[in-house]
Amino acid sequence: MLPLKRSDFATDFRWGCSTSSYQIEGGAELDGRGESIWDRFCATRGHIRDGSSGSVACDHYHRWPQDLDLARELGTNAYRFSIAWPRIFPTGRGKVANQKGLDFYSRLVDGMLERGLEPWVTLYHWDLPQALQEQGGWANRATVDAFVEYSDVVSRHLGDRITHWITHNEPWCTAFHGNYEGVHAPGIKNFKTALQVCHNVLVSHGQAVPVIRRNVPNARIGAALSLHPLKAASDSAADVAATLRHDGLRNRWFLDPLHGRGYPADIWSLLGESAPLVQDGDMATIATPTDFLGVNYYFPEIVADAPGHGAMATRVVETKNVERTAFGWEVSPEGMVTLLGRVHRDYQPAEIYLTENGSTYDDVVGVDGEVDDAQRRSYLVRHLAAAREIVAQGIPVKGYFAWSLLDNFEWAEGYIRRFGLTHVDFQTQQRRLKASGKWYRAFLQGEET
Ligand code: FCB
Repeated sequence: MLPLKRSDFATDFRWGCSTSSYQIEGGAELDGRGESIWDRFCATRGHIRDGSSGSVACDHYHRWPQDLDLARELGTNAYRFSIAWPRIFPTGRGKVANQKGLDFYSRLVDGMLERGLEPWVTLYHWDLPQALQEQGGWANRATVDAFVEYSDVVSRHLGDRITHWITHNEPWCTAFHGNYEGVHAPGIKNFKTALQVCHNVLVSHGQAVPVIRRNVPNARIGAALSLHPLKAASDSAADVAATLRHDGLRNRWFLDPLHGRGYPADIWSLLGESAPLVQDGDMATIATPTDFLGVNYYFPEIVADAPGHGAMATRVVETKNVERTAFGWEVSPEGMVTLLGRVHRDYQPAEIYLTENGSTYDDVVGVDGEVDDAQRRSYLVRHLAAAREIVAQGIPVKGYFAWSLLDNFEWAEGYIRRFGLTHVDFQTQQRRLKASGKWYRAFLQGEET
């Protein structure tokens, strides 16, 4: 596996870190920002494990110059961030955008360019304006129009400086964590709603693509999906069939329509009256050609048949004796190789970017002020070695974005789960580069490791 060096990868390989607006910005009430579904969700006791919210988070809204300095000092050449829709349209839509919101992102993007960081923007990383949720949120088809208007405004204002556009981050999570499991905002538990949300999100992606292209002629556009390599818990016909169903909703439900194949028929036939309403032309819209596929890779899943359990009658099995992060997610760099091999074989996207990959551990600041996160460093090293192997197989992976630049607000887990290459003391807002971050920096500066 080792040595591993930056020069093993193409010189134009994108090296970055990822963040998202609600998880780092704070400044929730500043400069006209409206309420998002996450502000509302966090306000209800029991939703967030430590009772926290993203109202301050990493205070990135004020500290962004320092944070971009960190990204530059790491030696990254790209930076993935997201825009908080309620900063641009506080109530979701309107004739006039909030200038102060646009100005914030304009300064932020200038800050990236000044530091040699190529901006990779995500338009939707889960912070829907609450006002739109009150009209049904993503389950309401009108939210598609609102998203297209918002994408239009943002791409008109920032398109002179941003080439790389990600429409949606992890539509699976938007739909199923948010509207079926109810563990993310808006906290709805309804399978039919989740499927409609999913469809509308995909349609909004497809409708936004030509709008962004019109405003940004050189744009490179894609969506970022959370994908998982799967294995059956046993050779039994029941477990093998269950794995196929699980794959159908977790992976193929997104990959198939985005690549022009419509929704997978085997899954559609199981949906009954939960099937989403699909309008004429929707499937062609969803399949609008894009320039790359973003893949967020975290962990594989082992699947067993589970009659009566969940929408697909499947269960994810926790096998023993595997390495796991503090979240319980299996550590499997080989799973990343399998997954990208499959995506390439079955769908052939022209370019693939690993738009997120990372791990969480119970980090401790030592008496010397250092955070010796040996496990995260090892996770990073092994996943980069896996990325090198994927490239060697001829799969067009063109970039890697570590999740995340900073410890941040990890959704329903609050501040309990740290994913950063940089430690954040949420009392003092002090940033400290962890051993994993120092390793990434050494690697990016060309040291052989
Ligand atoms: C992904 C999310 C990201 C972060 C990581 C740990 O699913 O896109 O915001 O929470 O997980």
